[in-house]
Amino acid sequence: MFPSLDLPLRERLLATAREAAMKAYCPYSRFRVGAAVMVGGELYSGCNVENASYGLTICAERVAIFHALARGNGLKIQALAVTCPDAPADSPAPYRMPCGACRQVIAEMADPDLVVIVDGVGEFGLNDLLPLAFRL
Ligand code: THU
Repeated sequence: MFPSLDLPLRERLLATAREAAMKAYCPYSRFRVGAAVMVGGELYSGCNVENASYGLTICAERVAIFHALARGNGLKIQALAVTCPDAPADSPAPYRMPCGACRQVIAEMADPDLVVIVDGVGEFGLNDLLPLAFRL
């Protein structure tokens, strides 16, 4: 457990991510994903949005981050929660983990003490998810 986040905040992040997952547009994969980020004490949600041209799909985590950015609160993400309600209950952790592209985008915007909460899996720091992240 990361000490920087108290229990009510963890619960709010997860509740926001779970609510966002219900809004996912995923007619191709039928795999809903919801995310929530906390920036400057505010929460911003995102869901995955697919497209018939499959490569145009965007993940829930990036939608949440870009949502925060567009509201003028994009940098220094303090916490991010992600949830995959359609992952089978007995599926291994990778079914629920942020993809590599999202990890790189998270790295760009992360506070050094960022906590990533993966619903049903656990909590991770940026270095756990993307050691030696590319930066300019
Ligand atoms: N997806 C996310 O939203 N986040 C991830 O980190 C991994 C994958 C979405 C993309 C696609 O709509 C569906 O999950 C199946 O890959």
